[in-house]
Amino acid sequence: MLILVTGAGGFIGHCLVKKLKADGETVIAADWKYPEFERSPADRFFNVDLRYKEETEAIFRSCGQFDEVYNLAANMGGMGFIENYRALIMRDSVLISTNVLEAARKYQARRFFYSSSACAYNTELQKDLNNPALSEDMAYPAMPEAGYGWEKLFSELLCQYFREDYGLVTRVARYHNVYGPNGTWRGGREKAPAAMCRKVILTASKGEIEIWGDGKQQRSFMFIDDCVEGTLKIMRGDYPHPLNLGSDELVEINHLADIAMSFEKKHLTKKYIEGPLGVRGRNSDNSLIQKVLGWRPSISLNTGLEKTYFWIKGEIETLRAQGVGLEASSEIPEVTDKRYVG
Ligand code: NAD
Ligand code: GDD
Repeated sequence: MLILVTGAGGFIGHCLVKKLKADGETVIAADWKYPEFERSPADRFFNVDLRYKEETEAIFRSCGQFDEVYNLAANMGGMGFIENYRALIMRDSVLISTNVLEAARKYQARRFFYSSSACAYNTELQKDLNNPALSEDMAYPAMPEAGYGWEKLFSELLCQYFREDYGLVTRVARYHNVYGPNGTWRGGREKAPAAMCRKVILTASKGEIEIWGDGKQQRSFMFIDDCVEGTLKIMRGDYPHPLNLGSDELVEINHLADIAMSFEKKHLTKKYIEGPLGVRGRNSDNSLIQKVLGWRPSISLNTGLEKTYFWIKGEIETLRAQGVGLEASSEIPEVTDKRYVG
């Protein structure tokens, strides 16, 4: 098959490209940056800004009809990024989603995949601990995560309307917090699993690590291999509406930190500080995807986090050998790159 993956310089996009190449497909990659940690195995890499229609269409004009288009490009990150850059996130990702979907329609792609998020769900249902897990019908009435979540709902609907009005086959996954090797682990866009690993690795024994809030917030975390496998199942399956793609192993952030500490038997004190918190408790209800596609996650948090921890440790050792200074504590990213602010 001829396949386009946008966001192929990012975490999930790059891992998907690797899987598709391993399966023998012809893969075209698009992103405005190359993967940070490894070379992309894509057959061709378009270094383009997908916020611009012309740059987006140039890919389709040059490659012809795609069998599959996976749109994973977005301006995104963990809570530290999402809470601080609402305008940027919503503007950029609305433009990207619209351009890629429109080009897929115009150049008659056979199938289109959109990576939505658990942040599309109604936040009113996520205010407590031990909330019922989120099932697909809980996105409406809509009150998603500010900025980022509204863009996700908008793009989900755009996919639905393009399917209904133009006959483009569209598929949508609502990813729940994805982690693993090759994911962002520093700089402020990282999510809690990578942040906890980095903090533990960079803190000397008997030291303390910072945790935003009281650490009692609950989440579920999906390992990247499960995410890639589930993405392919959703894309190639018959179910046209949004589906959860996540783990249903619910943990407190405190416990996530404990697991990270367990790999090298570190005993660190948790220091609770103010920070961007997001919802209080969120879990994925996987009943529907299990019913319609027979998918369920197969990698436990302990197993996946151990792989991630030692991958981050390897990256830290490489950077240290190059004399790069590294911080354990969390930062809110400062977005100074002109491309982001226009
Ligand atoms: P990521 O940030 O690692 O990858 C996104 C990629 O999009 C980046 O490489 C970035 O350079 C690229 N991009 C951004 N703006 C661009 C532009 N204007 N032109 C070209 N490329 C551009 O993120 P990810 O974790 O790989 O996420 C992939 C998708 O999955 C996103 O849509 C994200 O919202 C969604 N998602 C991810 C998670 C998660 O936990 N990782 C959870 C829910 C949803
Ligand atoms: N990132 C991060 N870094 N989070 C921390 C830290 C830290 O150092 N310390 C505590 N936390 C807490 C956050 O305050 C939040 O309550 C929880 O850990 C989870 O934070 P994130 O992993 O950053 O994000 P999220 O789960 O709220 O949302 C993420 O997942 C969505 C899908 O489920 C985001 O990455 C969204 O982009 C994504 O769509």
